[in-house]
Amino acid sequence: MFAVVLVGGFGTRLRPLTNDIPKPLLPLGQRTILECLMDQLSRGGVTDAVLALGFKPEPFLAAYPDARCAGVRLHYAIESTPLDTAGAIGFAARFVGLHEQSEAFVVANGDIVCDLSIRELIDQHRVNVQGGAQATIHLTPVDDPSQYGVVHFEASESRPGGRVGGFVEKPSSGTATSRYVNAGTYVFESSVLQHLPGDAPLSVERVTFPLLVERGELFAHPTDDYWLDAGRPDTYVRANLDVVGGVRRERDVAIHPSAQVHVHAAVNDSVVGAGATVADGARVSNSIVFPNATVGARAQVHGCAVLGNVPDGAVVRDTLVGSEGV
Ligand code: GTP
Repeated sequence: MFAVVLVGGFGTRLRPLTNDIPKPLLPLGQRTILECLMDQLSRGGVTDAVLALGFKPEPFLAAYPDARCAGVRLHYAIESTPLDTAGAIGFAARFVGLHEQSEAFVVANGDIVCDLSIRELIDQHRVNVQGGAQATIHLTPVDDPSQYGVVHFEASESRPGGRVGGFVEKPSSGTATSRYVNAGTYVFESSVLQHLPGDAPLSVERVTFPLLVERGELFAHPTDDYWLDAGRPDTYVRANLDVVGGVRRERDVAIHPSAQVHVHAAVNDSVVGAGATVADGARVSNSIVFPNATVGARAQVHGCAVLGNVPDGAVVRDTLVGSEGV
């Protein structure tokens, strides 16, 4: 089975980290966000993923020179101008010929971190197709739906998902009437590609989903397992803490065996990557120290993601530290 993975965004909210590294290639525990996603897709039966690329494609090609990641074969569809989400899906799907096949395919946002079972989503989609579905969307409940695409759906005991009756992208605060939002993973029948020409910018959230709702062809797959949109500084750091903190279905090691943490340094509730250094007397908490980054002697780092160097004695809180350091 194929997946189209959206990885072509600018990642502006995670600057300066994304000045050097595209968001899906940022660390998540001891792997990258993309590698964790590919592993999840692979466990769900996905064999091939086409990466919908635009901004900074080169690091992806360099990271996976044999075009394989976590057992999934990679294909690279590179946009010459940003096509937005639906444009990117249409372009990437055509790049690998999905418009000429009758097989359904998975679509995943490259910055969602979750414990969704892709296999269960696909199985639910197959059931939904009997009821007229052309697409099934993963939904998750959140406290403040105003930041997301809010979804209303018909649920019953025999049909936990059901047909989506309404899709409103980012409603004004206090007006949302459902806690369930677009969780960023979908299954599309190839027929959906008729609405996604892939030759101009188009939004799946603002155009395609409302259209499918109007036609009665969008169905829901709500789950309440772990889910995080890792695109903001606080959620990106949180995603890292959760992957080593025992909150997730799978757990990663907090401190890479090749990292050098001085015996008189303190590292709490944090991730320290391969080849990173935490020097004498430094204190690191609720943070991620990237592979090969350094935290100097007596420095204090709390709530941060550190890509570069924190100098000796510096105190840094709730900050993204880029390759230039602080
Ligand atoms: P911000 O700039 O911080 O908002 O991040 P972003 O650029 O990643 O935007 P956003 O989080 O809204 O994007 C959701 C998903 O769609 C991400 O996986 C992006 O990589 C992807 N995406 C957004 N726009 C495009 C596009 O024009 N082309 C492609 N290929 N992917 C896109």
